[in-house]
Amino acid sequence: MHYSIIVVCLPDGAGFISINCGMSGTASYVENSTKLSTSPDTAFLDDEDAGSAHNISAEYIVPRLGKRYYTVRSFPDGERNCYTLRSLVAGLKYLVRALFKYGNYDVLHRLPIVFDLYVGVNFWTMVNITDADAPVILEAIVVVRDDFVQICLVNTGSGTPFVSGLDLRPLKSTLYPQVNATQGLVLVTRTNFGTDDTTVAVR
Ligand SMILES: *[C@@H]1O[C@H](CO)[C@@H](O)[C@H](O)[C@H]1NC(C)=O
Ligand SMILES: *[C@@H]1O[C@H](CO)[C@@H](O)[C@H](O)[C@H]1NC(C)=O
Ligand SMILES: *[C@@H]1O[C@H](CO)[C@@H](O)[C@H](O)[C@H]1NC(C)=O
Ligand SMILES: *[C@@H]1O[C@H](CO)[C@@H](O)[C@H](O)[C@H]1NC(C)=O
Repeated sequence: MHYSIIVVCLPDGAGFISINCGMSGTASYVENSTKLSTSPDTAFLDDEDAGSAHNISAEYIVPRLGKRYYTVRSFPDGERNCYTLRSLVAGLKYLVRALFKYGNYDVLHRLPIVFDLYVGVNFWTMVNITDADAPVILEAIVVVRDDFVQICLVNTGSGTPFVSGLDLRPLKSTLYPQVNATQGLVLVTRTNFGTDDTTVAVR
């Protein structure tokens, strides 16, 4: 008896954008856990001087923690701070993802931190960071109207917004048929990984 397994893959990382927020330098690198090319965030900031970069506290750097969680960018100033991801195709469907790990980056041990995320002008989700260690990953599916999309962190007076990483992944238009041009944003998961097991790569 013969079995065939056909694995269909996109060319590695085609159209993917992976961003490490707060990392130093301007050079991209290959993230160990995902094998994807990952870029510093400064080129994606609407205001390249916005926010400040921080390392998380050393005690929160656990084995196998993805390098994206080593640093954050925080936004103590301004109510709304945005990243713009470019070179998209208007009308196509994308997964957007935001990653957070507090890691006591501000050495204040102050939690919870609550703020809002927007995709362009559309409210995406509230972010509620209650654990210094556990990474939080939030995802949404959008159909973009333009050849770019903005991801914005909005200060709601309950702590300084911060972010560890951002991702953009093109999706086949047939996936998530409930997402279309008029209904442009669907929350797919709200994941709070309660352990330090970050070996399960999220690409
Ligand atoms: C973070 O740590 C790296 C290396 O450990 C260091 O080069 C960098 O200056 C630090 N960044 C900040 C913002 O403290
Ligand atoms: C990534 O993997 C390389 C080779 O295995 C290792 O030397 C390096 O320390 C790893 N980096 C991180 C951030 O885990
Ligand atoms: C944030 O999460 C904590 C723990 O689940 C909860 O007690 C708190 O009410 C939440 N804050 C907001 C603003 O929803
Ligand atoms: C988009 O989807 C919503 C809900 O599924 C539906 O009500 C609406 O008619 C759809 N719009 C288009 C342009 O297909």
